[in-house]
Amino acid sequence: MRTLLKAENICREFKIGKDKTLNVLKGVSLEINEGEIAVIVGASGAGKSTLLHILGALDKPNNGEVIIDNKKLFEMKDEELARFRNNNIGFVFQFHHLLSEFTALENVSIPQMISGKRQNEIEKRSQELLSLVGLGERLNHKPSELSGGEQQRVAVARALANNPKIILADEPSGNLDTQNSDALHQLINRLNKELNQTFVIVTHNPDLINLANRVFIIKDGIILKKQKVRNIL
Ligand SMILES: Nc1ncnc2c1ncn2[C@@H]1O[C@H](COP(=O)(O)OP(=O)(O)O)[C@@H](O)[C@H]1O
Ligand SMILES: [Mg+2]
Repeated sequence: MRTLLKAENICREFKIGKDKTLNVLKGVSLEINEGEIAVIVGASGAGKSTLLHILGALDKPNNGEVIIDNKKLFEMKDEELARFRNNNIGFVFQFHHLLSEFTALENVSIPQMISGKRQNEIEKRSQELLSLVGLGERLNHKPSELSGGEQQRVAVARALANNPKIILADEPSGNLDTQNSDALHQLINRLNKELNQTFVIVTHNPDLINLANRVFIIKDGIILKKQKVRNIL
């Protein structure tokens, strides 16, 4: 097993007004192996989204380091980090965050355009990815013309666009009904088993937690160790 992602002593505080400081992450360390589904659970406000954003370099910690594939994220300059993120990290959020003016095909194409791929390659890959997530018949639909479940599957296809080392998902089924949640969870499981895709997922959903190889519980700004999965459901 190869360690793909390592977080070392991540600390994150937010200044509130002039003289108040909110200490959200107080030294979070964790490791995730290639090919794993890792899940992060914890109460609302525990710092799950803050941690996920830092793992994906969408936010910077006050202290600590994240290492993906032996590369220290916060030693990189902003431009290099943006390129690394676009090429190596996929994101799926609770609300799809697709660009509303663009079709499904275009939304999946944009990260590939940013990374400088050729147009004919981009279109082919975007079509393949949308077929992979079961939306081969929805290429030219805009987000508003898709169901919530379909929008999330476009978001997954977009996250896969540049063949990322890791996909980070923040409550990806938090806004879906049972049927659409099941379809999304099956898709995540299939991508993990068939493509060996590594995922880090923040979720409350017991079905999704059941798919995990590893569960991290965040409480009081740190990761609790050695909890059994059934104790947290
Ligand atoms: N940019 C910010 N500025 C100030 N406080 C923030 C900011 N982002 C998050 N917080 C606070 O940090 C805590 C953790 O937030 P978050 O990571 O979103 O929690 P979770 O995702 O576990 O519900 C919350 O109390 C939230 O209000
Ligand atoms: Mg959150």
